[in-house]
Order: sequence, then structure tokens, then C-alpha cells
Amino acid sequence: MPAPKFEPKTNRLPKALNVCIIGASKGIGASIANAYAQAGAGGLAIAVRPSSMKELIAVEQHIKESNPTVQVTIIPCDITSSTSVVDLAKRVKAKFRHLDVVDVNSGYSGPVVLTVGDGTLLTSKMCLMSTCKLYTTNIHPMEAALESLKSLKPRESLNYTKIAKEYSIDQSLLSKRH
Ligand SMILES: NC(=O)c1ccc[n+]([C@@H]2O[C@H](COP(=O)([O-])OP(=O)(O)OC[C@H]3O[C@@H](n4cnc5c(N)ncnc54)[C@H](OP(=O)(O)O)[C@@H]3O)[C@@H](O)[C@H]2O)c1
Repeated sequence: MPAPKFEPKTNRLPKALNVCIIGASKGIGASIANAYAQAGAGGLAIAVRPSSMKELIAVEQHIKESNPTVQVTIIPCDITSSTSVVDLAKRVKAKFRHLDVVDVNSGYSGPVVLTVGDGTLLTSKMCLMSTCKLYTTNIHPMEAALESLKSLKPRESLNYTKIAKEYSIDQSLLSKRH
């Protein structure tokens, strides 16, 4: 239970925002979706991998109980697939026309199998449709790699190839950002 000061029901949004939450089938993402509904969001696009659609439908039902007027749309999306993210952006745009917030809650654990960029794809595809804000609950691998470079001791050699491989990110992007 949030402290009363942070209770969504008593902290209404200034307007009925349209929000897209990726990774909303459970955990923090499901709670964020429900909190937006309680705070008076206008539209919620909740997304998750196709394998978790059943759980997402349960989240949708819970949201509708919290706020029967919020428009909820559930969309399959695997954030590790750029075509899937592009499809999500198209579907959200078709549904809401205007998007205020994207919340990326989909995390991964274990070995990273894809090269992850610096978030440009997601940011541009989702946010070009409007001036929406992007939030994430994940620690982005690029940010983690930059932190790792910052923590190198003066005598330690700087090896972009090694760090890029370790964090599964693009080496040239890493050196540009550093
Ligand atoms: N910033 C912080 O202080 C903080 C604190 C705690 C957690 N975190 C981070 O926040 C994230 C969420 O935490 P959580 O506890 O809510 O995790 P969680 O319970 O595992 O939920 C993650 C959500 O992302 C979905 N997801 C996983 N892989 C996906 C993919 N490839 N494409 C689309 N959706 C995917 C999951 O669905 P599935 O059912 O398909 O797996 C689930 O809905 C994690 O990355 C965690 O490390 C941050």
C-alpha cells in the first residue's frame, strides 16, 4: 500500500493521459498500470510478450474494476524485437492518436542474447507520434556500461570491446557516449 501522500486515487492526473506500459503482466508494470487507472488516465495500452497474454488479460480486468471509464487496449510486444516494437507503436497510434507517456518495465534476466542499442529505436518509434515522456524501471545496459567505465581505476586500461560485449551493447555507441 502506498503512503497516503502517494495514493493514486487522491493524486489525480491533471488530465486524462494516454499511457503505454511495456511489461505490464505482473510486478511493477501491472501496479503502474493500475495506479494510472486509479489516478484517472484516459487510455492505457498495456503490452507484454505473446506468451503472457493470459496474465495481461487478468491485469486488464483488474484495471477496469479500478476505473471503468479508462480505455484499455492489450497488445502483444516483445521488446527485444524491433519489428514487434514498431508494430506496438503503430497499434498505439491507431488506437489513441496521441500518447503522453511510455513506461518501459520489461526487464530481462540471465544471458542477454541480442545486442541492445541506446534506446533510440524505442524512443523514436514511440515518441515521434507525440511529445510523450519515456520512463523506465530498468537499469539500461548502456547506462550500466557507462557506470562501469566511470568506475575504472586510473591504471586500468579502457577496453570498449570488452565492456560492450559484457553489456551486450554496440561498441561504437558506447565509445560515442563515453
Ligand atoms: N529501478 C528500480 O529501483 C527497480 C526496482 C525493482 C525492479 N527494477 C527493474 O524493473 C523491472 C521490472 O521489475 P518487476 O519486478 O516488475 O519484474 P517482473 O515481475 O519480472 O515483470 C517484468 C515484466 O516485463 C515483461 N517482460 C519480460 N520480458 C519481456 C519482453 N522481452 N518483452 C515484453 N515484456 C517483457 C514480463 O512479462 P513475462 O510474463 O513475459 O515475463 C513482466 O510483465 C526489472 O527490469 C527490474 O530489474 C527496477
